[in-house]
Amino acid sequence: MKALVLSGGAGTRLRPFSYSMPKQLIPIANKPVLEHVLENIRDLDITDVGVIVGDWGPEIREVIGDGSRLGVRITYIPQEKPLGLAHCVAISRAFLGDDDFVLYLGDNMLPEGVADVAEQFTKTRPDAHVVVQKVPDPQGFGVAELGTDGRVEHLVEKPSRPRSDLALIGVYFFTDRIHRAVAAIGSSARGELEITDAIQWLVRHGHEVRASEYTGYWKDTGRVEDVLECNQQLLGCLTTDVRGDVDALSRLSGRVVIEEGARVLRSQVEGPVIIGAGTVVEDSRIGPGTTVGRHCVVRYTRLTYSIVMDGACITAVPGLRGSVIGRNATVGAGRVGDADHRLVVGDDTRIEVTA
Ligand code: G1P
Repeated sequence: MKALVLSGGAGTRLRPFSYSMPKQLIPIANKPVLEHVLENIRDLDITDVGVIVGDWGPEIREVIGDGSRLGVRITYIPQEKPLGLAHCVAISRAFLGDDDFVLYLGDNMLPEGVADVAEQFTKTRPDAHVVVQKVPDPQGFGVAELGTDGRVEHLVEKPSRPRSDLALIGVYFFTDRIHRAVAAIGSSARGELEITDAIQWLVRHGHEVRASEYTGYWKDTGRVEDVLECNQQLLGCLTTDVRGDVDALSRLSGRVVIEEGARVLRSQVEGPVIIGAGTVVEDSRIGPGTTVGRHCVVRYTRLTYSIVMDGACITAVPGLRGSVIGRNATVGAGRVGDADHRLVVGDDTRIEVTA
């Protein structure tokens, strides 16, 4: 079996971060979302992975490389425009050949993996096997109606009046029959070739489509709130590992990871927390629920429930919570005596100050 991971797309809901990085490289528990995805795929014993990339292809290649570090072999497949998930399958025909494959959205997190679903698919080999979960807002997803025996009876992409609350959650298993379906469908109202429509084509033509209801944690990391929530979820399974230096005046509690070369001085760290390699934390209180990237500086700051990306510098901020700080950003107090805030803020940035 092969895998096809979709890592194109503009990520407009993740602005301002998606102006300077692909959404698939946003760090969750200090690791890009896409690395979590590739690890899940490797755990299915799949090594041949096609990764669809758009304009951010070079950045993704730079971080992920040929995949050997993650135990997979990656073939990058460029997509000129984001023309839909089924379009991704169409342009990957040469890579996929006639093999069975799993299609996996590169910004969807399923930290407990999909091994059970993969096993079911391999055992029964329907022409498509989708993964669904109950959601409160099915209008925003592909929606499946199931028969009593786990067969899919009907699928619709983002219906205005959903007839079920089971959303497709970004992982699909296919045999080569999907290629006929992809070739047969036309563009949707949003101008994309929808994989949902291709699977519905299979249903309509009498082919077997099955579904598994996923009871584990799943998050489409499409918005900043989702990224923060998912970060918390992953921090819940952290194992303490202190490799950096922690001085005698600092106190660590709970599950804490201090990576190689990080230094924690005169600070309190309340887990779950990850402090990235080469980062300096001084006279601060960090956590719970916080990840600080690599080569950051945090001084005289109280920081909880937040994500700080590589190279950021935070100085003398007494209370930061629910914050996501981008790479190399600087956040800090002004000069003593200054009554006003001074902000240099990029497009689509959000700042909430205390009254
Ligand atoms: C895509 C699929 C949709 C699925 C969703 C899961 O939506 O088209 O069927 O439910 O991913 O995240 P999109 O993110 O393109 O709006």
